[in-house]
This record gives sequence, C-alpha cells and structure tokens, in this order.
Amino acid sequence: MTAKISIVGAGMTGSTTAHWLAEREIADLVLVDIVEGMPQGKALDLLEALPVIGRDVAVVGSNDFSATKGSEIVIITAGIPRKPGMSREDLLTTNAKIVGEATTSALKYSPDALFIILTNPLDTMAYLAMKTGKLPRERIVGQAGILDSARMRAFVALETGVSVENIACYVLGGHGDEMVPLTGRSNIAGIPLREYLPPDKLEAIVTRTRKGGGEIVSLLKTGSAYYAPAVAVAQMAEAILKDKHLIVPASAFLMGEYGLKDLFFGVPVQLGRNGMEKIVEYRLDADEMTALEKSAAAVKESITVLNSLVKI
Ligand SMILES: NC(=O)c1ccc[n+]([C@@H]2O[C@H](COP(=O)([O-])OP(=O)(O)OC[C@H]3O[C@@H](n4cnc5c(N)ncnc54)[C@H](O)[C@@H]3O)[C@@H](O)[C@H]2O)c1
Repeated sequence: MTAKISIVGAGMTGSTTAHWLAEREIADLVLVDIVEGMPQGKALDLLEALPVIGRDVAVVGSNDFSATKGSEIVIITAGIPRKPGMSREDLLTTNAKIVGEATTSALKYSPDALFIILTNPLDTMAYLAMKTGKLPRERIVGQAGILDSARMRAFVALETGVSVENIACYVLGGHGDEMVPLTGRSNIAGIPLREYLPPDKLEAIVTRTRKGGGEIVSLLKTGSAYYAPAVAVAQMAEAILKDKHLIVPASAFLMGEYGLKDLFFGVPVQLGRNGMEKIVEYRLDADEMTALEKSAAAVKESITVLNSLVKI
C-alpha cells in the first residue's frame, strides 16, 4: 500500500518539500493551498517531471482538505514568511490563525496522521497545533534543528574545505536567534570543531548559523529560505515512513527533559513509524545549559503571547 503525505501550504517551502519527497518515491503527495489553481498547477508540473527521473508516485493539488483524506503524515507550511527586518516572532498573530485552522481541517480527514510543522514561529506553531489537535506529543514534531545544523555544517565546509559528509554539527534550542550550536559536540571526522578551528573562526560560524535564516531573507527580499528547510522536512518524513529510528535535532514537546517542560524546543529526537519515539538527553556542560535556558525563555515568552491571542 502506498503511503500518503499531505503538505498544507503549497508556497515555496511546501512545493519544494513535495519536490524532495517525490524524488525519494516514498509516498503519494497532496498539496493543499487557499490560492485557487496554484496547488493544482504545481502538482501537475511536478507530476510531469517524474517520468524524467523515473519515479512513480501520485501528486495531486487541491484547495480542499478532503483531498488529504487518509494521510499518514501531514506537513504544515501554510502561513506568511518573513520580510527583511522581521523576526520569526513577528509572524505569530497571522500564522496562529492559519496553523490552528489547518490542523483542525487536516485532522478531520486524517484523524491518525503524524504532523510535521514548519510554519514560523516554529516552536510556538508546533505547540499551537498540538494543543488545537489534542495530539499526544509522539504525533507531532517541528522542523528546525536539521536545517540549523545543516547551515552550520555548510559554513564549516566553506571554512575548512572538508566534505560536508565529514562534518557533524548539532544545533539545539528554539528556532530563533537564541538557538544553541553545540560546538563541543560538533566535529569533523571525529575531531572536535574546537580543536580543528581557531576560536574566532568558530565564533563567526556560530554567529552566522544563528542568523542563517535572516541572511537569506535579506538577500531574497521577498520570502525566506526553502531548499534547505524543505529537504530537512523530507528527511523527517522519510525517517518516519521507513521506521528508521533516526536521531535528528527537531522541535519536540518537552515534559521535563533538559529540565524544561510545557514547550516545544529543539532537542535530539528519534523518529520512526510511531513519530517522535524518544528524546535523547545529552549531558550538557554548564555553559550549554545556560544557553539552552536563555533560548527556552524566548520560546516561553512567545507561548505567552500566543495564549493572549488565542484560547487553546
Ligand atoms: N521551520 C523552518 O525551518 C522554516 C523554514 C522556512 C520557512 N518557514 C516558515 O514556513 C512558512 C511558509 O514559508 P514559505 O516560504 O513556504 O511561504 P510562502 O508564502 O511561499 O507559502 C505559504 C503558503 O501558505 C498558503 N496558505 C496561507 N494560508 C493557508 C491556509 N489557511 N491553508 C492552506 N494554505 C495556506 C499561502 O497561500 C502560501 O501559498 C512561513 O511561516 C515561514 O516562516 C519555516
């Protein structure tokens, strides 16, 4: 039986996620958007690309959630992206309404689906979707950490000239400028980054990683990044459908892990067919814990704003 993945929001990240997923040939795909004709057009265009790369999956676009019926995974990318000068938090009011409604509509047709949230502010939108849908935490994760870690890996590769395949980086915390790149744990072929790079170069990479999303927003001027966020979501969906038990950094609902609770936050999670199977707890040093707590405070503040806007 072919699996089905629905992507809500067929804009830049949604359609690019469909692209990366179609290449993986792991599920039939449905794109849903409010703009008439757009998801249908993009789905048809993608479908017409598949003979060239030899992939047999169905790709359908719709303005109606009924097309998503029976999805194993629902990916929510619907909402507005940042403009230059905006923080992810500036999107909260508009996107809360969109994500809340999208979650309810998707659950109506796929009551057992697992959810991957991409819409920003990410950790707060994942919290909203979980509360709105009354989902157990295993069924919902937010994408942030794979992207932030990939950005750091790319910057390390640019600095050192070493293959990205040799570079492992771990970025935890909220998906905002307070995110926490773990320099002590990140490495090049097993050599800690702190040994490989001088402190000033490493610090520059950490800063660029934290502001990585904003760097792209200010270059694009209209909209935000999509290739890297979308491939990160595709990796998560693949890990779930293939029951890989893959450990990746992602936003999960914490219930005491890392000394934090009642918020979605970027931590290492294990993904498999049942969704978020496990939260892995690193033994962090005092500086790393302090940085995580600072990041958590920013996410908590965002949840307070959310609670003042909507009743969930
Ligand atoms: N978590 C991450 O790492 C990450 C990375 C990139 C972008 N984002 C976020 O993802 C969101 C989408 O970004 P994008 O670049 O795809 O934006 P986009 O504007 O290209 O696409 C968003 C789409 O959502 C659609 N939409 C709006 N309301 C809808 C609804 N109720 N139902 C269905 N579709 C609806 C819009 O019509 C639009 O096509 C933004 O909030 C952005 O900040 C998150």
